[in-house]
Amino acid sequence: MSNRVYIFDTTLRDGEQVPGCQLNTIEKIEVARQLEKLGVDIIEAGFPVSSPGDFNSVVEISKAVSNPTICALTRAVKKDIEVAADALKFAKKGRIHTGIGTSPYHIFNKLNSNPEAIIERAVEAVKYAKKFVEDVEFYAEDAGRSDNEYLARVIEAVIKAGATVVNIPDTTGYCLPSEYGEKIAYLVNNVPNIDKAIIATHCHNDLGMATANTVSGIINGARQVEVTMNGIGERAGNTSLEEVVMTLRAHKDLDFDTNIDSKQIMKTSGLVSTLMRMPIQPNKAIVGRNAFAHSSGIHQDGVLKNRENYEIIDPVEVGVKESSIVLTARSGRAALKHRLGVLGYDYEPSELDNIYNRFLDLADKKKDITDEDLEILVGREKQAGKKPIELVSLQVMCGKSTIPTATVQVSFHGDIFTETASGNGPIDAAFTAVKALVKRRVRLEEFLIQAITRGSDDLGKVHVQVEHKEQIYYGFAAHTDIVTASVEAFLDALGKIQ
Ligand code: KIV
Ligand code: ZN
Repeated sequence: MSNRVYIFDTTLRDGEQVPGCQLNTIEKIEVARQLEKLGVDIIEAGFPVSSPGDFNSVVEISKAVSNPTICALTRAVKKDIEVAADALKFAKKGRIHTGIGTSPYHIFNKLNSNPEAIIERAVEAVKYAKKFVEDVEFYAEDAGRSDNEYLARVIEAVIKAGATVVNIPDTTGYCLPSEYGEKIAYLVNNVPNIDKAIIATHCHNDLGMATANTVSGIINGARQVEVTMNGIGERAGNTSLEEVVMTLRAHKDLDFDTNIDSKQIMKTSGLVSTLMRMPIQPNKAIVGRNAFAHSSGIHQDGVLKNRENYEIIDPVEVGVKESSIVLTARSGRAALKHRLGVLGYDYEPSELDNIYNRFLDLADKKKDITDEDLEILVGREKQAGKKPIELVSLQVMCGKSTIPTATVQVSFHGDIFTETASGNGPIDAAFTAVKALVKRRVRLEEFLIQAITRGSDDLGKVHVQVEHKEQIYYGFAAHTDIVTASVEAFLDALGKIQ
């Protein structure tokens, strides 16, 4: 049996069933293109009979991507299969995913049927799908709670009917990892024609065991895993793609691998999270903001000595630039010096003492000190006059029934320039004036305002990203006046452009 595990991504079908997270066709195409870059083998693009939007998405995704197989879901219903086949007409490689419930709950309570009739319907659906495409996957819905002996009979029958892949979903996320693994092993050992098809896992996360169950399925003979980016999906979600892929990478001893370009993981995760408006929990494995952040003094010391003391995955492998040492009031000078070094700053001990004292002042007010905070601390350390562009004065006029207008005066290598502009708001007006002054084609890529503490008299911290000739420049500033902080951050970024 090959050790290659196929990645079947269902972010755009099962994942998209999350209430309030539906994507339009354009957004789905963007995700599908990124999934192709990530290297998934199969994209489940939708359930075409369910809506014209889903139908259209399958059509457009089929046109937009070339490498992955495009899969369309159906019930074991002729009309569904016909519509799916029609939606797949532009797919370079198309697959129909058809199936029916096989647990007592589904057979008797949902389908009001009996076990033999279900086998007949399953076989009929696979045979009908085979008339349209060669690649037909069969799912035994709620296989997790299905009787293994009966499940084996269903699987044998659908493989005989032509199924190329047999999917064993733990639809309700009920199974224990050992139980799910034994189910897959049972099928490997008791379905006589099992070598004619690939076994797929499809695990839900209701008890938080989707990844464990999927890995157990692989160990016991499954070679396709059905997963979603960030583990999104109905209820507690599906198995998360990044967790399975990186488990296999981390456990080289298991000797399995996928075609995934893991360096694309963070980018794909961010895209799915943004487009679906589903924030990622900070401690989410692999893609959470804290997944590679070390905060306690002991761990920081260990990681600084050797990253592998506290990390089993090199963050670079998943597209994260580096692990982060989260600086808190408990961090020592060594951690501060190291972090400043990573950011490109090297200080003499006396200068470092000065920064360290101000760092402690801030750390007492704020839980974590971020890279941006350090940039601000260091920025304040640099004396006025050293920056190429500096804000000399700023006047803004805004309020209800007033066109926001800003007059900005900057010094550029010592010469003073002034410009006035209006905009949608005071910051937009001030930025427009700055852009007119610097006469460079720049695009604001990101703009973030945060309060350092919670009071209205507090410092506002502004972080900007500016694009110029396809290069990104970062700027930071902090001020009690957020318009001033914004303009200073913008100028900070512009000042870094050569
Ligand atoms: O969870 C499930 O059983 C499914 C099937 C439709 C494959 O999503
Ligand atoms: Zn599912």
